Amino acid sequence: MSKKAYIATFGCQMNEYDSEQMAGILSNMAYETTEDLAGADLVLVNTCCIRQKAEEKAYSFLGRLRKFKKKNPDLMVIVAGCLAQQEGRRLFKKNPCLNLVIGPQGIHRLPELLREAEKNARRITCTELATSELPGHVRGLNGKRTVTAYVGIMTGCNNFCSYCIVPYVRGREFSRRGEEILKEIRGLVEQGVKEITLLGQNVNSYGLRAAGECSFAGLIRKIGEVDGLERLRFTTSHPKDISDDLIECFGSVKSLCEHIHLPIQSGSDRILRRMNRKYTRDDYLEKVAKLRRICPDISITTDLIAGFPGETEADFKDTLDIMRQVRFAGAFAFKYSDRPPAKAVTFSDKLPEPVTRERLSRLLALQKEITYNRNKSMVGKRAEVLVEGYSKSSPREWMGRARTNEVVNFSGDGDLPGKVVTVAVEKACLHSLKGSLAVE
Ligand code: SAH
Ligand code: SF4
Ligand code: F3S
Repeated sequence: MSKKAYIATFGCQMNEYDSEQMAGILSNMAYETTEDLAGADLVLVNTCCIRQKAEEKAYSFLGRLRKFKKKNPDLMVIVAGCLAQQEGRRLFKKNPCLNLVIGPQGIHRLPELLREAEKNARRITCTELATSELPGHVRGLNGKRTVTAYVGIMTGCNNFCSYCIVPYVRGREFSRRGEEILKEIRGLVEQGVKEITLLGQNVNSYGLRAAGECSFAGLIRKIGEVDGLERLRFTTSHPKDISDDLIECFGSVKSLCEHIHLPIQSGSDRILRRMNRKYTRDDYLEKVAKLRRICPDISITTDLIAGFPGETEADFKDTLDIMRQVRFAGAFAFKYSDRPPAKAVTFSDKLPEPVTRERLSRLLALQKEITYNRNKSMVGKRAEVLVEGYSKSSPREWMGRARTNEVVNFSGDGDLPGKVVTVAVEKACLHSLKGSLAVE
């Protein structure tokens, strides 16, 4: 009888992708994934530590596991991901129920480490970071993703934005070989996947450190030639590294969707400098103008940080101002959070929490208004939608995404998942559009 593994994933798409890989490894080791925590033989917690809150979520989940371990002392508990990398052995002290702590670069070693932990009942840590070569890569699609899939193209980050912990927990940048990426994508398309999202903390620097490999734009063009791949997306892009060559791809690669996630963080040059972002607000606006010249319908989404150390009301107004100028289709906005050993931790001019909280709510309110107006302007138009499955809100409706990335829920008959259909947009909601299948 096969054993049961419960996987909890916190954090970004990189972690979701890593969890898929680990699910694949575990299924090769005769672990079937389960949604029932109480019945699990193994619990894998893939953690995030990008902000204090993310870290707290992981600790609170680990705390919940204690009672399960008490009931079943053989329960195998594995902590993976960025918090595992950051805390390493210290996690055992805080959580005596753990068996294995494994950083993001140790995933491919999961089989040997798990076997060792099962055999010796010894606590094991695997958190070395590679300095000279790409850490091992595995692909284990766990069968859940049928229409859309992620493909990691690079790991790590060399940018060291002053607030960010990622370079410390994900290590240096390494790019995967283009041929290997193309092979993985062709394999996924053969299995019926229609949309691929290329993943990396900074996809624009793909290939920069791998001699003889193509640039990111070169990779996009090659993937654009894969037969049967309807849609291609990528995330995340750093504004400083977006090349004209990449911008040009939005005009020439048919499968490349008209959407880019381009985190701006702040609209104030002074704050951008302190964040070590290496672009100015004018640089950012220039990239946006170029993107819109090549691809007028492109939707641009972003990330914003409220209350960075030393942010004045004037700096903050610069952020509100650039949001109005660009009219982002959507934004993730966060309160600044201290993340040792990131450099901003040492900045002395931290803002009081109420100020940060108030600024965050102003950012969110403005973005809500912009997104809603943008969604309203789509009513009466048609959207090309790749159907992913049933809608979350109603099992009688379908859910898919427009090429510009809006979620579209709609009514219509037929066996639609995996198909690209035209939907007449009838209603705008805050986070989605509603409509019905258009008769051609
Ligand atoms: N590599 C991506 C971002 C990864 S982290 C990029 O460069 O765009 C995702 C987002 O979390 C960041 O864009 C930033 O807005 C936010 N973030 C990162 N560290 C943070 C911190 N210490 N406090 C608040 N938000 C943070
Ligand atoms: Fe963090 Fe900056 Fe790297 Fe993004 S580019 S992961 S924000 S250090
Ligand atoms: Fe979190 Fe690590 Fe992603 S810190 S945001 S899971 S890279």
